Amino acid sequence: MATTRITKTAGEVGPDAYTDWRTSALGAITEVLEQELILELSGSVSGKAVLEVGCGDGALTREFWRQGASLVVGCDPDRRMIAKAVARATAGRPAISYLLGRTEHLPLRARSFDLASAVTVLCFVEEKSQAVREMARVLKPGGRVVIGALSRWSTWAASRRIRAWLGNEFWRQARFATARDLRAMATGAGLRVDRLCGAVYYPHFALAARAMKPLDPILRRITTFGAAFIAIQATKQA
Ligand SMILES: C[S@@+](CC[C@H](N)C(=O)[O-])C[C@H]1O[C@@H](n2cnc3c(N)ncnc32)[C@H](O)[C@@H]1O
Repeated sequence: MATTRITKTAGEVGPDAYTDWRTSALGAITEVLEQELILELSGSVSGKAVLEVGCGDGALTREFWRQGASLVVGCDPDRRMIAKAVARATAGRPAISYLLGRTEHLPLRARSFDLASAVTVLCFVEEKSQAVREMARVLKPGGRVVIGALSRWSTWAASRRIRAWLGNEFWRQARFATARDLRAMATGAGLRVDRLCGAVYYPHFALAARAMKPLDPILRRITTFGAAFIAIQATKQA
């Protein structure tokens, strides 16, 4: 999802745009790499209470449930996204709760979750630090935050900036993150940063994605520079 190719305005981007992206050649490869990184940083979720903020159509919430989480909650302010997530969850009957809400003001009790994740959400949130503080608030002591974000230092971000200058409203609203931004937000929320990694090092072409995807796990260990997607893992200390 992080690297969705979207040309519509924010108001027009609904769940179908994300489905189209995932079924495209470039989207399918990219989604797998991003989800692999998020799941690696999340660690085992078996028996754990998991929250995903900005859950969209719920793809990651369903994966957390498949991996054995005891409680999964997805939260998003867009009714169309929540409706799609609910419809998809009903089909497989997973025990996932979805609710309407913004990351900056989560309608959830403090110290309730073992893991709180946000993937490609913060770029659309104005009060980013408040959003991360809220994620930290609802975590149990020792719980983990995993945030995946669109990176500022990649060819994908450069082409999105050009599209924004050319009038694309969706990308005009987005604010891309650096590794330093993610680190500052996590430490500002009182979290201990454990890992910071990148994914999706190829340019925005399916051919390049096919050829270069084996390099991704190697580059991930070396640098976040050039990655279209960066992710942080941080812990709420007891
Ligand atoms: C690019 S989608 C990512 C969806 C999902 N995380 C994924 O990776 O498939 C961004 C999502 O963030 C949601 N969003 C936007 N502003 C938000 C906010 N302030 N709090 C929580 N979610 C928000 C949007 O409604 C949208 O579903």
